[in-house]
Amino acid sequence: MLTNATPTTDKAPEGAPRPSNLFYLASSRRPLVDRAEGIYIWDQSGRRYIDGSSGPMVVNIGHGNRNVIQAMKRQMDRVTFAYRLHFENEPAEELARQLAARMPAGLDRMFFVSGGSEAVESCIKLARQWAVATNQPQRWKVVTRFPSYHGGTLGSLSVTGDDALSQSFWPLMQKMPTIPAPAAWRDRDNLSMEERGLRYADMLEEKILEEGPESVLAFIMEPIGGAATAALVAPDSYYGRIREICDRHGVLLIHDEVMSGAGRTGRFLGGDHWNCRPDIVAMSKGIGSGYAPLGAMAASSRLVQPLLEAGGFQHGHTYAGNPLACAAGLAVLGEMDRLRLIENAAAMGEALMEELRGLQSRFPFIADVRGKGLLIGAEMVADPETLAPIPPRRMAYQRLLDLCYERGLIIYARRVKGGRDGDNFILAPPMVVTREQVDEIIGILGDALVALAGELDLPVNG
Ligand SMILES: Cc1ncc(COP(=O)(O)O)c(C=O)c1O
Repeated sequence: MLTNATPTTDKAPEGAPRPSNLFYLASSRRPLVDRAEGIYIWDQSGRRYIDGSSGPMVVNIGHGNRNVIQAMKRQMDRVTFAYRLHFENEPAEELARQLAARMPAGLDRMFFVSGGSEAVESCIKLARQWAVATNQPQRWKVVTRFPSYHGGTLGSLSVTGDDALSQSFWPLMQKMPTIPAPAAWRDRDNLSMEERGLRYADMLEEKILEEGPESVLAFIMEPIGGAATAALVAPDSYYGRIREICDRHGVLLIHDEVMSGAGRTGRFLGGDHWNCRPDIVAMSKGIGSGYAPLGAMAASSRLVQPLLEAGGFQHGHTYAGNPLACAAGLAVLGEMDRLRLIENAAAMGEALMEELRGLQSRFPFIADVRGKGLLIGAEMVADPETLAPIPPRRMAYQRLLDLCYERGLIIYARRVKGGRDGDNFILAPPMVVTREQVDEIIGILGDALVALAGELDLPVNG
């Protein structure tokens, strides 16, 4: 029993923050949530918000889906937990079968976890154990991109390209080699976009050669960027060249599809837009869609079999593959098919992108709009010609987030370049969003941008 906990009360004095024994990432507080339906969330005072980012790009199929809730209730009535070392369970078996059917050819083996960081950790550990089992123990380096986000646990943080998040923890982690994320839109040279794509990909080969190819285990990348780069998409030429380079040096290609997977970009995996053939895929977020903590790693038998034969996968988390989370995941996939949500994400993504480009012409401080499907990012700068950043002390990303929130729209906003400068935001509403709701989102965002431009003295056209 806790003896020295300060009891909290429901009621705070007028104007004072509600007392809480919880602590959050920062000192700012948010209202208590009450309920949610589709793309909307209500707080306990009855205020309605549009969930324009699906939380942190999680609630792909929308809030309050009755079929998923019913499927979870049915599962709860049978069994909620059975440890995987004691029992196999049908929902996990069936979910593995259905996910494997949606993976690129050859990725037929699934391993379940409870979140994105766990999925990334699993990929790194599988790669390493495969190398050890196949007599390549000298391979351990995982090349990653800067900026990038792969998770908050120490293993996944060690491959995350974000100084602000990782700098305190380097004494506890192994530094990994990095190459620049392919922010080709920023480059001011005479190359075409496709040439730039090849140039960014070739940086991987240069890094592998510099590190010593025999020491490099894997390369990890988000096929479509997420939190660190606001939906950054590389030029098309990048993806195939990366595969060639990995093949040439026996380096495993890990795709982190934690955010870009599960239909959000208009294809089941982000990498499907380029017919990518990664060796290992990490997924989470949208496959549980916020109904249950769920993550998955997909890999080929070519990788899994040798390490199983060498004594087994030395890894696992207690809640991994539990029947309740897997039943939720199965029902989520069912709803994605029944409601044709991937097709809707592609169509509504196009509409949202077009509308955002319209806002870009009104607000020239939006220097770039990018993404695929309903994972759309935008980057704001002080000067669209020089791409000079808005001074960090103005906190433009945070102000835009707050101005939207005050107006009942939730967006995802962050700093790029490892948190040092640059301001971006992501629009990623649930995949059930309608055309009218796209307009509603753009209307509120437009109002917030007017207010932001006024506050920070940013240029506005017309
Ligand atoms: C690409 C990517 N990988 C990994 C993670 C970590 O996932 P989680 O927060 O569920 O541990 C995230 C979370 O935002 C992510 O976007």
